[in-house]
Amino acid sequence: MNIQQNISLKPYNTFSIDAKAKYFASFKTIDELSELLNYKPQTSNYKLILGGGSNILFTKDVDGIVLKNEFRGIELIKENAHHYYVKAAAGESWNALVMHCINRNYAGMENLSLIPGNVGASPIQNIGAYGVEVKDIFESLEAMNRHDLSIHMFSANDCVFGYRDSVFKTKHKDEFVILNVTFRLNKQLDFNTSYGAIEQELAKMHVHELSIKAISQAVINIRTSKLPNPKEIGNAGSFFKNPVITAAQFNQLKKSYENMPGYTNNETHIKVAAGWLIEQCGWKGYRNGDAGVHEKQALVLINQGNASGEEIYNLSSQIIKSVSDKFDIILEREVNII
Ligand code: FAD
Ligand code: EPU
Repeated sequence: MNIQQNISLKPYNTFSIDAKAKYFASFKTIDELSELLNYKPQTSNYKLILGGGSNILFTKDVDGIVLKNEFRGIELIKENAHHYYVKAAAGESWNALVMHCINRNYAGMENLSLIPGNVGASPIQNIGAYGVEVKDIFESLEAMNRHDLSIHMFSANDCVFGYRDSVFKTKHKDEFVILNVTFRLNKQLDFNTSYGAIEQELAKMHVHELSIKAISQAVINIRTSKLPNPKEIGNAGSFFKNPVITAAQFNQLKKSYENMPGYTNNETHIKVAAGWLIEQCGWKGYRNGDAGVHEKQALVLINQGNASGEEIYNLSSQIIKSVSDKFDIILEREVNII
């Protein structure tokens, strides 16, 4: 067990926040993980499982141990007439897995290209983009109980997936370490190009014959045109969830704001674009020191250099208040706050 002390977490979170971990260790095997979960430092028994650090905001130093997941491996475990079943270790990069599947013509993940982070975190918030969510291709996962080290299998039903939500954010929050995830990819190519600007981008790319590679490239082009690259500007993607409001409230707001974008969530509720609400409150491109709001996407809070997690968090609180004052809508943070 190689446990380091007083480690800066700056290289381990895409917000580039310079928080410190009292203890830090990585694990590559079940035995190493078990040993680390049994380890009880005298001062604090707090344990944080870390993947790629792309959905986390450190607002303080971690008084406990940060456990970095480095499980590796991608394997085709079975196939039938319709599907390929691919099992990926939790520490694999999500985008590397997407590219692995695209290169073999396994369809279903292409709309989720270029999402940062690791496989293990993908079911936690049911990552989604461009009309597809992990739940659409999810088969099962294996996870270790952090307290008694027992290993459990979760089906899609067990995970209770919702919009940026699963049982790992609710009933089983901080209870399991996800070890690997099995995805069900399609043999039959069933392209999903209806969302956002994918079709426009494909036309711009002069794509005549649709392929999962072309869709992936279109998604990559759109994403890079509006989302900041964490290697250049610290961020964790969308800081807030898109709020879901009643159709009655939406219709009322439409009377004053006719351009307000809304997407039907179900018969009675509408999902509203948080980026639009934040932009309307005047925050787009805002900067206070190194904490700010991205100039091309108001849903993305940024660290331009040396902002502290607390500064980013305080900015998010100001944004929540102004959106609430103007629209009577309460934004919920999507990023995990530590
Ligand atoms: P981390 O940030 O390391 O961890 C996130 C949470 O999961 C933490 O609570 C952590 O403790 C827990 N965790 C991590 N691994 C495990 C594990 N193996 N077992 C148990 N718990 C674990 N998300 C989307 O859904 N759609 C997008 O389009 C999208 N775009 C983004 C764009 C940018 C530029 C950035 C920076 C982020 C974006 N995100 C998006 C958010 C982020 O990429 C995802 O949430 C991703 O799944 C986080 O993975 P991670 O490994 O970095 O998780
Ligand atoms: N908009 C504005 N101003 C802005 C930003 C957006 O008016 O500053 C408007 C856009 O014009 C558009 C609408 O809001 O009409 C939606 O914008 P966009 O297509 O950029 O998507 P989003 O709703 O802001 C969501 C996800 C992203 C995901 C994209 C694509 C959430 C919280 N965010 O963003 O996920 O990549 O759709 O599917 O659901 C993430 O979770 O980190 C993330 C980046």
